[in-house]
Amino acid sequence: MVDIHHHLLPGLDDGASNMDVAVEMARLAVAEGITHVVCTPHANSYHAFDPRVNAAKADELRARLAAEKIDLTLGLGCDFHLSLDNVELALADPARYSINGLGYLLVEAPNYGLPPGLSETFYRLRLAGMTPVLTHPERNATLQQDPERLIEWLRAGLLVQVTADSLTGHKGRRAQQVARQLLDRRWVHFLATDAHNTTTRPPRMRAAYELVGKRYGAAYAYSLCVSNPQAAYMGRPFEIEGQPRGLEEVVKTPTWWQRMTAALMRK
Ligand SMILES: [Fe+2]
Repeated sequence: MVDIHHHLLPGLDDGASNMDVAVEMARLAVAEGITHVVCTPHANSYHAFDPRVNAAKADELRARLAAEKIDLTLGLGCDFHLSLDNVELALADPARYSINGLGYLLVEAPNYGLPPGLSETFYRLRLAGMTPVLTHPERNATLQQDPERLIEWLRAGLLVQVTADSLTGHKGRRAQQVARQLLDRRWVHFLATDAHNTTTRPPRMRAAYELVGKRYGAAYAYSLCVSNPQAAYMGRPFEIEGQPRGLEEVVKTPTWWQRMTAALMRK
């Protein structure tokens, strides 16, 4: 499996607190069946994001993993907060925050509320050559209330990542229900761990993979955990597995009364 959302780099954000913890997280990831991890430090008002620092940390961690014989390939990306400054920086340099600099951009849905003007932001990111991937909408209070708000963005090509732990119930009942609703509609394109440590938020993906396989079929599970994230890792397009439901425009046929009123108005 390929995990595109993982706070593995040590000492940068609220993820791995030091190199030893990062090594243990990597060990757990491999035991889950993960072969590739995209290291995605936060870029928000609490955590500065510096691509050179991240690259150096990733090299340091790769050397430790090689020394410990832990077979895990590391890529680089970002857990991108949708602030005005961040968006402007991403538009000016699309490689800066996207996965391996190749275009897929994780955009963080805050746990509470949604910033205004998101449709336009997604549109501008796409115009600049990026493919925004909305992270864990099932954990956002506004989208939990009203998942239909995703429809407009999905129609415009937004991709969706659900946290594996949400599906298996580790993020609470509501997140689990919404995650399942999103999968029922085939509105999800990636599962990822969003791992932060070895205890409360460890890298877990296998149980979610198996659950999706049982409930939705092996092909959808494979696309969410292997082929789609692999394509994102390589910066390649992919075919969406399964027909998303409920995205068609509803064209209403006017009633006889509306037709008659319209005819009278034209006279
Ligand atoms: Fe995250």
